[in-house]
Amino acid sequence: MRKDSPLIRESDKHFWHGYIAFYETHFATRAIGSVLEFGVLKGNSIRWLMERFPAAKIDGVDILAEQDEWPRDARVSYHRLDQGRRADIRDFFQGRSFDLVIEDGSHAPEHQVACLIEGLPHVNSNGLYIVEDIQTSLPKPATWKSKWKGLRPKGNALSTLLAIEHFRRIGRSIDGELAKKIAHDNLINQEEILELDCNINLLWLYRRNHLPDKCYHCGSSEFDYGAFKCACGVEIFSHADSMTFVIEKK
Ligand SMILES: C[S@@+](CC[C@H](N)C(=O)[O-])C[C@H]1O[C@@H](n2cnc3c(N)ncnc32)[C@H](O)[C@@H]1O
Repeated sequence: MRKDSPLIRESDKHFWHGYIAFYETHFATRAIGSVLEFGVLKGNSIRWLMERFPAAKIDGVDILAEQDEWPRDARVSYHRLDQGRRADIRDFFQGRSFDLVIEDGSHAPEHQVACLIEGLPHVNSNGLYIVEDIQTSLPKPATWKSKWKGLRPKGNALSTLLAIEHFRRIGRSIDGELAKKIAHDNLINQEEILELDCNINLLWLYRRNHLPDKCYHCGSSEFDYGAFKCACGVEIFSHADSMTFVIEKK
């Protein structure tokens, strides 16, 4: 694929989050013939996937009905699904398997958990499952102004994957007791944690450690460096920016 492809340059996965270069280090060594992405929006990432994996079958899932602007191709299929309906996610995965799943949907912690727990068993061995923008599962600052304000922190996909990585790094395998500890006040229960751990071969967390190429809001690179803001006021280096977990299926 051309490094200067406009499809890449125009994706916020590249110019804002900086995910693409990180993903490429994981894509390069794998044969990827089937891809699923949760979150289609305007179809931009489907266009990128079509270009990046020219022979792959691609499935896009969204709560939206199919939009006119979404790309059409014999190897691309769309499915309407609400990530808030776990039984529907389970039904969708029945009889399907993928070499690559990118979860870039609502970014609600509950939905990240539902898709990860239902979806990871349907990733082929040595395939990848990516939870994109998982920074939304960080505890919310007291000053947070959104609908989440006042909600108590609860274990989720981010805390659980961090715990699994932590115990592996310090050389402790996760038994029932450790799984119970991780499952305390968590959206993911003890049994699911044990299954998750069994399904994971390797896992890597990326956190953007540089300024974005340009602002996602106004498109400019006119930054006020001292204020950590774009000239339009958007924060360009906040504590909760651009995190993605890449998981290799066992
Ligand atoms: C971040 S955008 C996807 C961006 C796209 N992957 C790209 O890179 O161009 C998030 C998408 O998730 C969809 N979405 C929001 N809530 C959802 C839900 N509950 N279930 C499924 N999709 C949802 C939105 O309709 C939107 O299209």
